[in-house]
Amino acid sequence: MPAPPPPVRRHCEAFTPVQQTLIIPLVARALGGGLYPGHACGDEQASRLLRTLEIDGQAYLADRPTVLNVLWRTRLIRECAQAFFVEHPKAWGINLGCGLTDYFQWLNNGQNTWLDADLAEVMALRKTLLPAQMPRLRAGTADLQQPGWWQRLRLPKRATAQPVFLLIEGVLLYFQPDEVRTVLQEFAEAAPAGSVLVLDTMARCAVGQAQWHASVGRTQAQFRWGIGQMQELTACHPRLQLRQSHSVAPSHGWMGVAMEAMWNPWGHSAPLYGLAELVLE
Ligand SMILES: C[S@@+](CC[C@H](N)C(=O)[O-])C[C@H]1O[C@@H](n2cnc3c(N)ncnc32)[C@H](O)[C@@H]1O
Repeated sequence: MPAPPPPVRRHCEAFTPVQQTLIIPLVARALGGGLYPGHACGDEQASRLLRTLEIDGQAYLADRPTVLNVLWRTRLIRECAQAFFVEHPKAWGINLGCGLTDYFQWLNNGQNTWLDADLAEVMALRKTLLPAQMPRLRAGTADLQQPGWWQRLRLPKRATAQPVFLLIEGVLLYFQPDEVRTVLQEFAEAAPAGSVLVLDTMARCAVGQAQWHASVGRTQAQFRWGIGQMQELTACHPRLQLRQSHSVAPSHGWMGVAMEAMWNPWGHSAPLYGLAELVLE
């Protein structure tokens, strides 16, 4: 009889399809630097976790565009957060739908506070693999599809002077459009002025197409939210402002740029895949 899988791997196997997608960026951060040295993010924790979970990353590495997308977004998010903490060194950073990321390895400035939150099953796995061992590093359980998460996580109140840095990466693509709107509205209603939200976006043409995606297709998760124009991100609340939009296309070289130019010849549409920085008035 084959030996039972180790407890952590058993845990992953019981995950829902969307929860299982957390392996995709984990592998990219751990091993993607071998394929794209210029984009390597130096994620020591991801490499350690991959070994502990006994995940064979090779199958995921075959999906090179996704590996590059993850490395690109990781570095950009890190830069956005670093810039934010230079301006607000004692502020909070919050990663919702954090999966097995560890941004605090790069962002701990000795004064800021970081909160990682995800669904209960994922947080249970995090507790065994990435226990929050510092007073300024916290962990919380949050279901973003249930309104009221800001209060349940006891995030800083709007009345406090200090803005927060909020990150939601690789999560909202799996939500229904009205669920995404509710998340954006909750952030806009609850967060202090000057707070920043960084999230990734996909063009609407990707909705319902996850079965053709080399990595996500294996999980049975589905893309349910995409956008046509960047303004759709801010239309749901007057406090939301689009600070900057980034497209991954240039990091894919001339092929990426050509594809995006064909897709969006006048530059009016949202990128095929990108990152948005929203700020609250
Ligand atoms: C592709 S993974 C991204 C994980 C992480 N942000 C990263 O980039 O490595 C999707 C994550 O969304 C989380 N997620 C899915 N539905 C959620 C919900 N309703 N509330 C909070 N997190 C959710 C999953 O548990 C999973 O960790």
